[in-house]
Amino acid sequence: MEKKDDVLILAIETSCDETAAAVVRNGRTVLSNVISSQIELHKLYGGVVPEIASRKHIEKINQVIEEALREADKTLGEMDAIAVTYGPGLVGALLVGVAEAKAISYGAKKPLIGVHHIEGHISANYIENPDLVPPFLCLVVSGGHTHLVKVKDYGSYEILGRTRDDAAGEAFDKVARAIGLGYPGGPKIEKLAKEGNPDAILFPRAKVADGPYDFSFSGVKSAVLNYLNGCKMKGEPVVTADIAASFQKAVISVLVDHAMMAVEEFGLDRFAIAGGVASNGTLREAMRGACEKKGVRFYHPSPILCTDNAAMIGTAAYYEYLAGTRHGWDLNAVPNLKLGQR
Ligand code: KG4
Ligand code: ZN
Repeated sequence: MEKKDDVLILAIETSCDETAAAVVRNGRTVLSNVISSQIELHKLYGGVVPEIASRKHIEKINQVIEEALREADKTLGEMDAIAVTYGPGLVGALLVGVAEAKAISYGAKKPLIGVHHIEGHISANYIENPDLVPPFLCLVVSGGHTHLVKVKDYGSYEILGRTRDDAAGEAFDKVARAIGLGYPGGPKIEKLAKEGNPDAILFPRAKVADGPYDFSFSGVKSAVLNYLNGCKMKGEPVVTADIAASFQKAVISVLVDHAMMAVEEFGLDRFAIAGGVASNGTLREAMRGACEKKGVRFYHPSPILCTDNAAMIGTAAYYEYLAGTRHGWDLNAVPNLKLGQR
């Protein structure tokens, strides 16, 4: 039997191209984490096709939820709340999860908790790090977002900086496409970079004049395209491994510089990374090294918790549940939902 004070949450995530459901106990124990990835489907098009994503979510969502409950060995009746990502993300994709969560919570008479996707990514760090509690700094780097965030408390965030154009993961994906690696580009660039020289080409490390913590990655992406064009015009061979390694170094160096500047200014002794790009081993090691030099503890989720998943949504929902957050039947998908907005 569950102890009375155990809180079980069924969480659903459909904001992009993963149909995911999880059961999480007391925010930090993952009883199941089922992810049905659509990557193979979207690969054919070189990126996520929103309508295909929605259609696939509709097809998979019930099976994924069933499996999450089965793996957790729990019933819907045992859940204390139903949580769902309601933004930001692709509107048609979000709507599938939101409609499903509303139907379940209505049918099973359970409270409904809408969760911010980025809050989910940040919260992924709590799962394997029982000692991690706010306040801390977190760099969220994914295909859609690049945010440097001060986590003041559970559910309380201050955005220090964000990207002005492309997200870090988006830059990886675009550069990968330019050098013929296909989608998703991040893992492919990381692999190829291991065979290249990161100092072969000096790509720009953009600074944003009026926002010291803001990022801009469209310049480095354009620099790679220009470099490729230049090679073509001069008839010089293109060493894709050197491009991958040099591009990756440029992106990582900006991410680490901004992160360490924030560590100094805000004097926090814990730093975490999150989001799909956080599964990049070279980024993790660079961040770990920089943190160690400053005597700051470094945290990162396992790769499976870096990419989109529902366990992170269940974790974020637990702290929202404790704070009393409950959503009504009018909960809707909010594609551009701001962090900290309820
Ligand atoms: O968090 P995520 O699964 O979805 C979003 O919320 O966007 O992030 C996906 C992004 C993609 O752009 C992908 O190329 C990137 O994360 N990514 C990586 C790596 N693995 C995934 N980028 C760099 N290195 C990796 N190893
Ligand atoms: Zn994400």
